Amino acid sequence: MLGVAYGVATNQWTGQKLDVMERQVEQAAAIASEAEAKAQTEAARVAEIEAKAAEIQEQARLALATASGGAVSEPAPAMSAGYGLGRAAHPEEIAAWDVDVLPDGRGLPEGSGNAFDGEEIFAEKCGSCHGDFAEGVDNWPVLAGGFDTLADEDPVKTVGSYWPYLSTAYDYIYRSMPFGEAGTLTPDETYAIVAYILYSNDLIDDEFELTHENLAEFNMYNAEGFVVDDRDALEYSQWRREPCMENCKDEVQVTMRSVFLVETPPEGGSNSVMNHARDQALPSFTADGPSFIPAAAAQPEQEASAEPEAQVADAGADLLKDGQKAFKKCQACHKIGDGAKNGTGPHLNALFGRTIGGVDGFKYSNAFKSAAEEGRVWDDESLAAFLTKPKDYIKGTKMAFGGFKKDEEIAAVIAYLREAGQ
Ligand code: HEC
Ligand code: HEC
Repeated sequence: MLGVAYGVATNQWTGQKLDVMERQVEQAAAIASEAEAKAQTEAARVAEIEAKAAEIQEQARLALATASGGAVSEPAPAMSAGYGLGRAAHPEEIAAWDVDVLPDGRGLPEGSGNAFDGEEIFAEKCGSCHGDFAEGVDNWPVLAGGFDTLADEDPVKTVGSYWPYLSTAYDYIYRSMPFGEAGTLTPDETYAIVAYILYSNDLIDDEFELTHENLAEFNMYNAEGFVVDDRDALEYSQWRREPCMENCKDEVQVTMRSVFLVETPPEGGSNSVMNHARDQALPSFTADGPSFIPAAAAQPEQEASAEPEAQVADAGADLLKDGQKAFKKCQACHKIGDGAKNGTGPHLNALFGRTIGGVDGFKYSNAFKSAAEEGRVWDDESLAAFLTKPKDYIKGTKMAFGGFKKDEEIAAVIAYLREAGQ
């Protein structure tokens, strides 16, 4: 009994399950056919769009071919020689770039115009910047006048006074003016405008008809004012030295760093040239407002205060400190103090009253040797002069130091030399 009941139940269940599966299959089939239909319509649309794109491309190609007046039918062949890169330019491509006008008139488009018509066009399109008479508004360029000012300190270079060829005026204006609206002028308008500029320069009367045929014949005022640059032939040989190619020096040694040869400031260093400039530019503030007098120059006044000696001592210590700092520019070459020896330069001990070029065993330049023979000695005055411009004070010195720019530095370094070299 139990077995039968089970069998019935099982059969029933199996039947239900089959029903369900059948329905699922039907649904799947429906979905599949729907999807297929969708795919078909989409494929059709894609094909349609592709066809349209091809059509547009073809139209564009035809339009381009017509516009450039030639047939751009097939891509140019790859270059056969060399590396096979690139291709020869089409004549149309070259024509698109080749728009310049040469002094002999090549490149001028056909056309003509006179100053009478040009005046109106110029007033409308150019006058707002260049002035109605080409005289220039505010700081906009002047296009007329300025004759015979080219050798002046402040020459007035205009189309009339300076430009050697009229073709440049045509070319420049046609391609780049009106400023901000370049490319809007027709050839006839340009001829008329150029004629008007000549007229403004009193070079033609207003009836002169400027054309592509006579433009190049126009002799400009300054045509002879330019020379071919022949410096390479005339001057180059005079300042060029033949490089040494054989039996040259055996070894090349770095003898000095540019930091010590004056100008290159050491990293963020306080004795850089730039910092001096900055120090000078900074105003110091007083009760009356900013003062541009350097602090050092203001010091003498303070000496009159209640404790003069202490003040002077302070000022002296400051001076020595400044001097020590300034001596950084010297210490690559000079030693000073106990046991100082000669280096690139002679030691600087006991310098005051010492004969110029007087350290035994140091190889001085001839300039220094003759100063020694004359018996000249170092004192404040001669040192100050020497350290301002070493090469001026002792012509031919081999001391590679450019000189101090500020008197305060010289005063400080001299104080330091006296103190440290006792
Ligand atoms: C909006 C102002 C403006 C207008 C309008 C204008 N220009 Fe100019 N023009 C300039 C400026 C700015 C320069 C200088 C451009 C430079 O140096 O690059 C210049 C330069 C020139 C020069 C060269 C001057 C020289 O000696 O170097 C000529 C020639 C010239 N313009 C002619 C014209 C003509 C012709 C028109 C009208 C068709 C015109 N400009 C319209 C602003 C203007
Ligand atoms: C690049 C190396 C170099 C630097 C930097 C340099 N000197 Fe000299 N200095 C020399 C040489 C070399 C001589 C010898 C000049 C000669 O024979 O022509 C010399 C000569 C001198 C002399 C003369 C000495 C004597 O015996 O007559 C003085 C003073 C002197 N230097 C001071 C200074 C001071 C101060 C500084 C720094 C501000 C300085 N030098 C920077 C290389 C240098």
